[in-house]
Amino acid sequence: MKNLLEAPFVREICRLATNMYRLGWDERNGGNISYLLSEEEVKEWLDVSKELRLIPLAGVENVDFDVSPLKGKVFLVTGTGKYFKNVEFDPEENLGIVRVREDGQIALLWGYRSGGRFTSEFPAHMMCHISRLSKNPKNRIVMHCHPTNLLAMTYVHPLTDRDFSRTLWTFATEDVVVFPDGIGVLPWMLCGTAEIGVATAKKMQDYRLVVWSLHGVYGAGESIDEAFGLIETAEKAAQIYHIVGSRPVLNRLSEANLKELIHLFKIEDQVKWEFFDDPSH
Ligand code: 13P
Ligand code: ZN
Repeated sequence: MKNLLEAPFVREICRLATNMYRLGWDERNGGNISYLLSEEEVKEWLDVSKELRLIPLAGVENVDFDVSPLKGKVFLVTGTGKYFKNVEFDPEENLGIVRVREDGQIALLWGYRSGGRFTSEFPAHMMCHISRLSKNPKNRIVMHCHPTNLLAMTYVHPLTDRDFSRTLWTFATEDVVVFPDGIGVLPWMLCGTAEIGVATAKKMQDYRLVVWSLHGVYGAGESIDEAFGLIETAEKAAQIYHIVGSRPVLNRLSEANLKELIHLFKIEDQVKWEFFDDPSH
């Protein structure tokens, strides 16, 4: 077996965690990442039939969480309580690779060296993977973090999918192009529970970005670049929204401008037209 620490997917998640930390999205142990790995890409780095131990779910009853659609799948997942700033310096302590067994139990294959376990948001992550995979079989990443500006928006902005999506779309030109599907918004809910997992996964049927009010955001994508890029782009528009603050807004993108962008990038079939005052196009 080759040295797992040199595997591209381990290097990639380390770089991601460091970037997220440096952007201020992941103070202390804030945030978590899960990365669906293919058998093909792990096989030269890890024997997936060798289980180190089983990790029981915590705070979630098995009856509330059916992992069967993920049977056999292998995930690289950040550990609970682990600091993102430390991930790149000690991946084996701060990360784990787990496999969803045929019997639904979660087996640790590598990592969490000192007896740790996966993120407390593991059920929400797995539910989101199930949800996104049903929409896009190529989805591989679910990530959660606490980006300052998006989070701050949830204290002062109406908490509907439509209002949130429209504000972000109209405060930065690229946003409607990057996430024409918009952004979903959940009210404050208790994190780490099956309820917030179910609610997030339900939103992920319609969105790749889901805001947890007064807490943070979830992003999903086929790659780290896609999921990271979604959050980064929404966060930038949220930052502009706050810089503008309560000063009178003299200029912002109009619906006509948004439609021009949508036509230019030929993304008519991806847009949430129901968020437009005038959905004709
Ligand atoms: P974990 O340390 O369990 O991943 O929790 C961090 C977090 O952001 C909870 O929402
Ligand atoms: Zn969080």
